[in-house]
Amino acid sequence: TPRAIGIDIGGTKVAGGLVDEHGTVLLRARRDTPHRSTAPRVVEDMIVSVVEELLEGSEEPVAAIGIGAAGFVAADRATVVFAPHLSWRHEPLREALDRRIELPVFVDNDANAACWAEWRFGAGQGESHLVMVTLGTGIGGAVLVDGRIQRGRFGIAGEFGHMQVMPGGHRCECGNRGCWEQYASGNALVREARSLVQAQSPLAADLIAHVGDDVAAITGPMVTEAAQQGDPIAAELLAEIGTWLGTGLANLANAFDPGAFVIGGGVSAAGDLLLDPARESFRRHLAGRGYRPEARIKAARLRNEAGLVGAADLARAAVVPHD
Ligand code: BGC
Ligand code: NA
Ligand code: ZN
Repeated sequence: TPRAIGIDIGGTKVAGGLVDEHGTVLLRARRDTPHRSTAPRVVEDMIVSVVEELLEGSEEPVAAIGIGAAGFVAADRATVVFAPHLSWRHEPLREALDRRIELPVFVDNDANAACWAEWRFGAGQGESHLVMVTLGTGIGGAVLVDGRIQRGRFGIAGEFGHMQVMPGGHRCECGNRGCWEQYASGNALVREARSLVQAQSPLAADLIAHVGDDVAAITGPMVTEAAQQGDPIAAELLAEIGTWLGTGLANLANAFDPGAFVIGGGVSAAGDLLLDPARESFRRHLAGRGYRPEARIKAARLRNEAGLVGAADLARAAVVPHD
């Protein structure tokens, strides 16, 4: 079975991998995207250079290229309609890449790709009804039923990050206010940590010791690491994110009634510091609790690589159907 290349394009990076039919990443390549407003052409150049690097490194033929993009991907699996954290607006991504790459290219939403990978190779194996939520720059979502990603009529199903959880709340990159991803994403974690440091709160002493008054130096992984080393405020910030996560999952259970939720993306590296508060608030907000079976809430097993592994596997499945 031939290999495929998967590329995950998020708010901060272009991460690629050469992936075999077992979902194993054989080679990796990565570029940081300088900022959110990076021109489509520059992101496209990065994708092409990552693909070239991986093709050069592969001793065997490659069947296809899969792109997992952090945005609304149309049903044609070719066009990025809108990407809140990137500069793509009605971007004909597949067409642009087809002109520069010889192999077949397929575009999918990053969270759809991650969900596929977790179902095939990770924490979602064997689940007939699976919901994936990724916490990164934003919140990504996907629904998989009986082995099929549910895409909706226009390709845009699973945009959970933009469900309104707080009327009149924080402004979102999508243009609305109060979206879930303003409360439970990596960006939300960083925003809250920065504002504590900005306020020179004595509670933030550990974080301040790390960055001084350079609030911009605070990152999500930094907060997670501080929490893991026992900083109570960092743990509290993660617990707040987890509480928002669990509330949202309870709402999703009302809509989809899955057997399991898999939680991925960068913030999920915090493990139970995030997931225990999420489980607690899930139970507290689940409608009809005590009368109904409860979905499990599991950490993604493929971690940050789910998106690229899934993008590669979906692309391979499109050219070499699974038996
Ligand atoms: C976008 C989604 C994406 C998610 C995670 C959201 O803001 O709307 O399309 O899947 O971020 O990257
Ligand atoms: Na999605
Ligand atoms: Zn939004």
